[in-house]
Amino acid sequence: MPFPSNLAPGHLFCFGAGYTCHRLAQRLLNQGWRVSGTTRSDDGADILRQDGIEASLFGGVSGDTLDKRAFADVTHVIGSIPPGPEGDPALAAELDWVSHAPSLRWVGYLSTPAVYGDRGGALVHEDDDPNPGSTRGKRRLAAERAWVSAFEKTCASVQVFRLSGIYGPGRSAIDQMRNGKARIIDKPGQVFNRIHVDDIGTILMASMQRPNHGRIYNVADDEACPSGDVIRYASALLEMEPPEPIPFDSAELSPMARSFYSECKRLDTTRIKSELGVELAYPTYREGLQSILRVGI
Ligand SMILES: NC(=O)c1ccc[n+]([C@@H]2O[C@H](COP(=O)([O-])OP(=O)(O)OC[C@H]3O[C@@H](n4cnc5c(N)ncnc54)[C@H](OP(=O)(O)O)[C@@H]3O)[C@@H](O)[C@H]2O)c1
Repeated sequence: MPFPSNLAPGHLFCFGAGYTCHRLAQRLLNQGWRVSGTTRSDDGADILRQDGIEASLFGGVSGDTLDKRAFADVTHVIGSIPPGPEGDPALAAELDWVSHAPSLRWVGYLSTPAVYGDRGGALVHEDDDPNPGSTRGKRRLAAERAWVSAFEKTCASVQVFRLSGIYGPGRSAIDQMRNGKARIIDKPGQVFNRIHVDDIGTILMASMQRPNHGRIYNVADDEACPSGDVIRYASALLEMEPPEPIPFDSAELSPMARSFYSECKRLDTTRIKSELGVELAYPTYREGLQSILRVGI
């Protein structure tokens, strides 16, 4: 996945170097970047360091704080920690790191379509007014706004990325089928988009080349569909029997999952293509799952 090839190497710092950031970091490191990031545990830090990412503990039970000198030559920052009741941890506890990052020019905040609220299955565009119905959606919207406003007086531009359901190697319907954890939650009419983790990386890198302060991007594939379609497709690829559907009302779901399934929308993805010039490597879950099965990484 060579695009975009002419992104000059810099130093990326990730607040919350989880699945998406770790995967992006591997691509950037291969292109000569320096990548740093936070995690809450020593084990998490070991995993990041094994892959060449400079890891710091942040936000764990010990209440770690960051050495601000780490930001001296940081050029790019990603905010990837979900907000809590007190807001965004990276901003709430550490906002003064901004003034310690004189070389910073691009910031990406990873948000969610929960900020739109329930749209009854309608297509949602980035210019539509947000209308979060869930606590998690309201916190996200507040966090989006806090990230954009935190940099108003700096030279850095902040972009917001509303990511649909993230999947990829190690985190997909193929993996769920293999480890016996696949479930089909049956809620008639409920659909949502997904996005392959490497397409997220491509979109973030494309945005680094075309900064646009305050811009919001829906980050999604081209086919919103029920979760059952994806599980059944993975089952067919693996030549396994799909699980029996579980009615939404009687399904055991976490509060987060129940709030997720309570809303329904399709994401308009024109902007990532027209403004960022991105061509998705995995326009639907079919290409994504085929690749995961074929390559396995
Ligand atoms: N999964 C999805 O389908 C989806 C969809 C839309 C948006 N999002 C959001 O997009 C972002 C990236 O998703 P992802 O799946 O790549 O994330 P992820 O793998 O869950 O990683 C999240 C990172 O944030 C850290 N973190 C979580 N809570 C924290 C806290 N209270 N204090 C400090 N650090 C904390 C985690 O630390 P550890 O390394 O210690 O775990 C991890 O490094 C996240 O904000 C996620 O909520 C996810």
